[in-house]
This record gives sequence, C-alpha cells and structure tokens, in this order.
Amino acid sequence: MSTSRQGHIAVRAFLVVLRCMTCFKTLLAAGLAAAGLLAQLPAPAGAPLRDLAARRGIHIGTAINPVALKNDAGYRETATREFNQIEPENAAKFGPIHPQQDTYNFAPVDDLAQFVENHNMVLRGHTLVWHNQNPAWLVNGKFTSAQLSEILHSHIQTVVSRYAGRIYAWDVVNEAFEDDGSLRKTIWANTPGIGLEGTAYIEQAFRWAHAADPKALLFYNDYDAEPVNPKSDAIYRMARDFKARGVPIDGIGLQMHLTTQGGPMESIDANIQRLTDLGLEVQYTELDVRLPLASGQPSAESLAAQAKIYGEVAALCLKHKLCTAIQTWGFTDKYSWIPGWYHGMGAALEFDPGFQPKPAYRAMADALMK
Ligand code: XIL
Repeated sequence: MSTSRQGHIAVRAFLVVLRCMTCFKTLLAAGLAAAGLLAQLPAPAGAPLRDLAARRGIHIGTAINPVALKNDAGYRETATREFNQIEPENAAKFGPIHPQQDTYNFAPVDDLAQFVENHNMVLRGHTLVWHNQNPAWLVNGKFTSAQLSEILHSHIQTVVSRYAGRIYAWDVVNEAFEDDGSLRKTIWANTPGIGLEGTAYIEQAFRWAHAADPKALLFYNDYDAEPVNPKSDAIYRMARDFKARGVPIDGIGLQMHLTTQGGPMESIDANIQRLTDLGLEVQYTELDVRLPLASGQPSAESLAAQAKIYGEVAALCLKHKLCTAIQTWGFTDKYSWIPGWYHGMGAALEFDPGFQPKPAYRAMADALMK
C-alpha cells in the first residue's frame, strides 16, 4: 500500500472514531487531550470549513480549475484554506486527459496531485466513462464494439494506475441513466457500445478500474438522482445487484446541482438511507444551488433561500455515518459553470466573486459546528 493511501486511511479511521465519539465528547476530552490529539484540532469558532469538517469526520471538497489555481492568488488562498478534498473540474475527463488516441495530457492532474500532497488534502478523480467531453478522435473514429472495448479498457488502466495511491476515489461512470430510469444511449452503452448489454458495461468499467488500483474507492455518479425518483431507483437497483454479486463498487456520488426548490429533504434522506444500508458510501460531488439573476445580482431573499438549502443538505450528510464528503462544484461565483449552462442563472456557490463568504458558507459552517 502506498504511503499516501495509508495516510488517508489512517486519517479517515481517526476521523470516523472521532465522529462516533461526539456523544461521549466530554468524557473523552480528557483522554484525547492527554493523548495530545485535541491540540491538533483548531477551535471551531470562525475556523475554516476544512477544520470543521475534519472534526466531523468528513471531507469538504471543491472542483478545481487548474488555470485559476495557478494564476489567481485569491482563488488559491481560499481553496487552500477551506478545503481538504479537491477534484479536477475538467482535467481528468476523457477528452482533456486523452486528447489523441496515442497521447495523454497528464500535466494538469499531476500538478493537482502535487498541490493536494503539499496541502494535506485528498484528490478525487472525475470521470472515466461519460457521454460528454469525449475527444473528436473517439467520437468520430467509427470504431467497432471490440475496438471501443479495447480503447476504454486501455484508457481506464492507464489513467487509474497512473494515479494509484494519489487519487483516493474515482467517479468511474458518470450519468449513465436517463430521468425515467432507462439506460442512456451512449458511445459506451450501445451506440455502438463496448459489446455488453444493460448495466454490464458499467460493471466492466468498475472491474477494470479495480484491477488498475485495487485500493481506490469506486463511485457511480449522477445528477437529479438525489431524492427517490425513477432515476435514483434505477441506480439503487444497479448498486444492490453489484453489491450482491461482488462487483467492486464503493459508493454513489450525488451531484446535487440544486435550485432553491431544493429537496424534498425527506426524500433525499430516504435515498441516502437506502444506499448506505447497502454498505455504500454516499458523497455529494458537485453541490451548487443556482439562483435567478434577473437584475444581474442575487436578491437578499434568494441568498437566504440558498443558504437554507446548503445548511439542510450539509446537515443531511452529517446525519448519515456513510455520507463521507460534501463537495461543491467550484467554490466562488467568479468561475462557476452555471452562467454558461443555465441562461439567466448564477451565484450558485458559497463564495462571491471577490472570495467573500456568502450566507451559504455560514450555513454550511453552522451545520458542521452542530
Ligand atoms: C461541467 C464543467 O463544470 C464545465 O466547465 C464543462 O464545460 C462542462 O462540464 N456534471 C458533471 C460535471 O459531472 O463534469 C459537469 O462539469 C457538470 C455536470
């Protein structure tokens, strides 16, 4: 086992123990203090999110734009101060990391891995199998199923093994289901597909990823599957089948691209419960809460409604022992993907464009301090 992976496991074990102990906090404080452990944990008041999250035994993460990390000091300082988990927003997707059939572009993810190690964080990988952001050579290659199978196997083997011990968890497959619970038709599934029926192509991707790094945690990741609905039902059925048959799946990523309609929270709670009852981890992988920007700026009311959602979903994760990460899709409205994808919407993240914390930040911090 690599040192960084061992380190991650040790930190995690320590945090899980701390989390189980919250009810016995007073009793145990003396013992912990004696062990010198409390001294390592900063006081919560005004503490950065990463310190608050560490005390609760979860990771607090953000997607990262490597160019901003390099060129924007405010971005770099805020990311470093607040988060203990990062994920490349685009750099590890098939197109960016494998732009030509015989060429990989590893430098941006290598740099992020170094950044993570310099700042005592962990790195999540996103994503190996997806219908979007695939390179032209792949999409236009007119490959047969046998060739696509070989291409995907080789891609997964190359990328996952390169970061073995450095990327602790991978979104192996992203967004494979439609809203009605049917399987999305993609280049990997059946147009033309890698030659496997139903969810067998997803299973194959998990098996390849596991072979490439047996220690990495492997996630299935999707959006609009937070509450109980036809899509999350389909994901649940697949996960239950995979667990029953020993397919190497460790968790489900809930993207959490929300509006101020949010939830319903009881239904998200029920979905997390049934997934974690299977022994799977749940992580929020892409949380943001987009706001209408009719006048260019979010209203005070919409910022308050947004904060309420951030606080509620954070509390929900903390309620479930196997909900192990809260990660937002970026952290500052300066670089969010939302305005480019949802017309007239924006201001979805917990820091404003000047890196000032918004009410949403306070709501997450308050949930973590409870
Ligand atoms: C988005 C990125 O944020 C954008 O920069 C890019 O142009 C498109 O993809 N679900 C996912 C993410 O799993 O990979 C997407 O990221 C957002 C939706």
